[in-house]
Amino acid sequence: MKRVAILTSGGDAPGMNAFIRAAARAAIQAGLDALGVRRGYAGLIDGDFLPLDRRLTANRIAKGGTFLGTARCEKFYSAQGRAAAADQLRKAGVDGLLVCGGDGSFQGAQLLHAEHGISVVGVPGTIDNDLCGTDFTIGYDTAINTAAEAIDRIRDTAESHGRVFFIEVMGRHAGHIAMEVGIACGAEFIAVPESVTKLDLLRRRIVEQGSGRRTIVVVGEGDEAGGARDIAAAINKDLDIDSRITILGHIQRGGAPTVRDRILASNLGAAAVQVLLDGRSNVMVGEVGGELRFTEFRHTWGRHKDIPKQIERLAELLV
Ligand code: ADP
Ligand code: F6P
Repeated sequence: MKRVAILTSGGDAPGMNAFIRAAARAAIQAGLDALGVRRGYAGLIDGDFLPLDRRLTANRIAKGGTFLGTARCEKFYSAQGRAAAADQLRKAGVDGLLVCGGDGSFQGAQLLHAEHGISVVGVPGTIDNDLCGTDFTIGYDTAINTAAEAIDRIRDTAESHGRVFFIEVMGRHAGHIAMEVGIACGAEFIAVPESVTKLDLLRRRIVEQGSGRRTIVVVGEGDEAGGARDIAAAINKDLDIDSRITILGHIQRGGAPTVRDRILASNLGAAAVQVLLDGRSNVMVGEVGGELRFTEFRHTWGRHKDIPKQIERLAELLV
């Protein structure tokens, strides 16, 4: 193995820069060339490469986003698009590809391997924490801290006005962000896609709080009862309350990564290079119980990653 390519794909996540830095530096230490790919699979198809060295990866670790850029790339869903990407890799003399992204990025990577024999190793990068085979994904810790800080601020004004706030957090089909942030912020109610949202219970909670009292309702965007707007509409239909809706949105994806995310990304980025050197492909490198864990791509998205039981129990006890 002589040359590895490194890319970030799908939704960006704080810590991706630490991943790029670690993967490039570990590759260089091992005597390999490290080639960055700009704009994820879109840049791969276009051959948009950037040779990486220590200098180019310096002063990046503390910044959010990804300095290589990322993309959701329509062309990569087609066999033609993937063939163009494989051609670019061959032309550039790349022997292995490192992909930091979510389940979609890994599905694309698996096809690239199956169709063109390109060795690919994945690193979990998404704020959603929805990949099996790792306790935490890169970006999740930063996102929950950002969301918690925002909700703490909302709580102050909710308290002053005695309002009910319906606050929507990201997570796509997974409720990890909603559940942990809800517990951490002392929410009065948490709605997650993993369980049926009992609107009757929510009505009772709001009534029990008493009129003119603050109530914080945290809603995971993928909840089956709908987002914060839908849940607020259902409640406002029956109760005469002073309420507001806040969609936290992409604020959760930006900002300086926490130390946890920097260390996780550094550890997994460096480990991923070793996995390629060991001749393996089609696996994601994660961390479970503080130990490295290697999981075949298809097992990372094959089933829903449940919210840990002890976290669910905590929510039942405290919320
Ligand atoms: P994430 O990796 O964060 O889940 P996406 O689902 O948007 O984000 O996937 C990122 C990119 O990976 C897509 O824009 C597309 O280029 C590629 N991709 C996703 N799913 C597939 C698939 N089933 N086949 C081929 N490529 C895919
Ligand atoms: O997967 C990360 C994520 O931020 C999800 O939580 C969210 O549903 C989605 O990406 C938003 O995607 P976009 O940036 O394309 O709006």
